[in-house]
Amino acid sequence: MARWGFIGGGKMAEALLRGGLAAGILKPQEVLISTPGKDRQEYLRKTYGVAAFFDNPRLVRECETVVLAVKPQVLSGVLEEIREAARKHRPLFISVVAGFPLERLKAGLGGVERLVRVMPNTPALVLSGVSALCKAPETPEEDLSRAEALFSALGEVVRVPEALFDAVTGLSGSGPAYVFAFIEALVDGGVREGLSREVAERLAVGTVLGAARLMKETGKDPYALKAMVTSPGGTTIAGLKALADRGFHGAVMEAVAAATRRARELSGG
Ligand SMILES: NC(=O)c1ccc[n+]([C@@H]2O[C@H](COP(=O)([O-])OP(=O)(O)OC[C@H]3O[C@@H](n4cnc5c(N)ncnc54)[C@H](OP(=O)(O)O)[C@@H]3O)[C@@H](O)[C@H]2O)c1
Repeated sequence: MARWGFIGGGKMAEALLRGGLAAGILKPQEVLISTPGKDRQEYLRKTYGVAAFFDNPRLVRECETVVLAVKPQVLSGVLEEIREAARKHRPLFISVVAGFPLERLKAGLGGVERLVRVMPNTPALVLSGVSALCKAPETPEEDLSRAEALFSALGEVVRVPEALFDAVTGLSGSGPAYVFAFIEALVDGGVREGLSREVAERLAVGTVLGAARLMKETGKDPYALKAMVTSPGGTTIAGLKALADRGFHGAVMEAVAAATRRARELSGG
């Protein structure tokens, strides 16, 4: 049996469980979760029909693939605890822990070779995320494909070299917050022009969702799509001019750069 294990049974593990089960990649009888809270174990058992307990080394001994889904600050302790079992059993480890590079994972696990690192983002919680994946140099290609199959149940997957993971954090990791800030500003703009907040929110969310979908489904670049809705001397070009005057494009680029720098600082790079 190809058992999948999750160390940490929080939000990200649950999203993977939900998406993986719905997509048929995971089967309840082949999933084990190790997480400390008794209530949480009970909830996961009842909701998804999986095995849940708190024994990290046992989980490593019993699974072929182990997803590390704990908070960064507890990961070092967990690695120490499972090192012996990892060295003996050698499952594939997939880490979603932000800011924890493959080299540190490998060292923490006593030199194991099968390691994949993934940077998902928050919309993964509603199966609309985008995840960047990379593998350690000595990790077999099929391990990366196995991880890709699971994470594609959470949305898009993109292969990115680990050296660019801080940039991924700056763009898609922190990006949802930039989009929320943009939506908030759209709503305030609508309210200022007399729309009720409720109507302005529906219009703003629908616009952002629809524009992103239009781009994805037509495969057109943003320049072509902008041209489609910008008639000469019209309303949209007047709005775009106001954004350009206030440095919108540069401000968003700077946001990505600032978050990338901060991710680099936090991961000790
Ligand atoms: N959520 C996101 O959108 C997102 C996006 C990108 C990356 N990530 C990464 O995903 C990881 C998990 O994030 P999350 O949002 O799922 O956090 P979370 O909801 O807090 O989940 C962490 C889980 O780990 C459990 N845990 C704590 N100590 C443990 C131990 N020693 N052994 C096993 N399990 C332990 C916690 O249990 P208790 O609550 O009982 O302590 C909790 O269930 C983080 O490293 C984060 O960087 C998350």
